[in-house]
Parts: sequence; C-alpha cells; structure tokens
Amino acid sequence: MNISILDLLTRKKESKKISMITCYDYTSAKIASKSNIDIVFIGDSLGMTMLGYKNTIPCTTEVMALYTQAVARGAPNKFILGDLPFLTMRKGLEPAMNAVEKLMQAGAHALKFEGFADNSILSHIVNSGVPIMGHIGMTPQFVHQFGGFRVQGKNDSSAEKIYQEALALEKAGCFAVVLECIPPVLAKKITESLSIPTIGIGAGPHTDGQVLIWQDFLGMDPDFSPKFVKTYFNAFDPILNALNFYDQDVKNGSFPEPQHCYK
Ligand code: KIV
Repeated sequence: MNISILDLLTRKKESKKISMITCYDYTSAKIASKSNIDIVFIGDSLGMTMLGYKNTIPCTTEVMALYTQAVARGAPNKFILGDLPFLTMRKGLEPAMNAVEKLMQAGAHALKFEGFADNSILSHIVNSGVPIMGHIGMTPQFVHQFGGFRVQGKNDSSAEKIYQEALALEKAGCFAVVLECIPPVLAKKITESLSIPTIGIGAGPHTDGQVLIWQDFLGMDPDFSPKFVKTYFNAFDPILNALNFYDQDVKNGSFPEPQHCYK
C-alpha cells in the first residue's frame, strides 16, 4: 500500500489534494494500480454501475465483499476503501461488526459509511482498529427520504445539519469525510472547520480531495452525465465501434486469421 491514513492527514496539513476513484473489478483495478490515484474505492454505487439497479439499496455486504476482493487483488499496492452498504450501521453493533469484518477481510484498508450513525457503534469500530470515512450531504442510501438524488444543504437549516454532522464525524474518530452534492460554500466551510480531509463529489473545488465514479469519468454511459462529472474519455463510442468491427469480421469471415489459430 503506497499511502496510509496518516499520509492523508499530512496531505490536508500541507494543503495537498487527494485523488480518489471508484473501481469495481480486477481488470480495471490493474489499470488503477499503475496510476497516481491515491484511493481506490469500491463504492456501493456498483449496484447501479455494475448491476443496473436504480439505486444502491439492494447492495448487500456479501456483494460488496466479492467486488472488494476483486479490486484488492488487482490493485495490491493501493489504499483500498470499502463501503458499508444500506442499514449496516443501523441494526446494532453485532451486524455492523460482522459487515466490517467481512469487508476488511476482503482486502479493504478502511471503510466508508453514509449518514450519521449511532456514535457508540462508530466509536467501537474505530476503537477496533478500523479506519472509518464518513459520507454526508447527498447520501444515496437516503434517496427515498430525499425524494430523489437531489443537492442537499441548499437552505440554512439543511446546511447547518450537514455542518454539525461533519463536526460530529470528526469527533467520533473518522479519518476523512466525503461531501456529496452540496453547495461549494458549505463544502468550504466544512473543509476549513475540520482537521481531517474532506473528499468532494459535486461539492465544488474547496474540498481536500475529489472522487469520481469510474464509468462517469470514462464516459461509458452517454445517458448519464451529471453536472459535476468531468469526462476524461469517451469510452462508449470506441467500444461500440470495436464491437461492430468484430461483428462484421465474424460475419464476413475475416476473423479469425491464420495468426489467431493454433498450429
Ligand atoms: O458508492 C459510491 O460510489 C460513493 C461515492 C459517490 C462517494 O459513495
């Protein structure tokens, strides 16, 4: 592992940014392992990007552990962040600890959870030696309570609630906090108030780091392009073209050629 939570805290102190990317499979993790990206994150967004669900709620600990294992095998040199799925932190200590155990044993070095959970569970996990990243703002596991995937913290009371949650997460021992889809001014206030790093997604430029979703930044789904995503590659068209060239070659008999055949 080429970075630790101590390095991430130092980055904050030195005002050096942190890069984080989601990743869900072995082959992609091998590419990420050769990159300069700091944190490779197996988010429960895989329920949507890999499994085609409408939201992240159907993800279970078993599913998350399977994908975490694949990524950990592909990027053994990286800081691997796992994700605690829906309700893991809400059913009491034992179920929470079972999920933590499965994901850490799957190869994660730290885990993230959404919302503000029971402090005693959070403290117990942290005191058990497991680094925890918080996640507030537009937390996708709360999609039904929010009435959809909507920007949070737009009015004073919602902004104050998110701000207080950020302070409480630091106090409870989190080593970092994701701020998702909140106004940049609120993200700035939180970032300046915390001594742990903030990682933004749709939260503007003032956070200590940024995270993007693998399929989004590679432009793999032209039907989904939220405002906060910067697309670094248009993967959809080249892959589509390659599929059609292959189809054509098969159908007109020009594949396979002699060099593709065993003697
Ligand atoms: O699951 C996920 O990919 C996430 C990111 C949006 C931070 O939680």
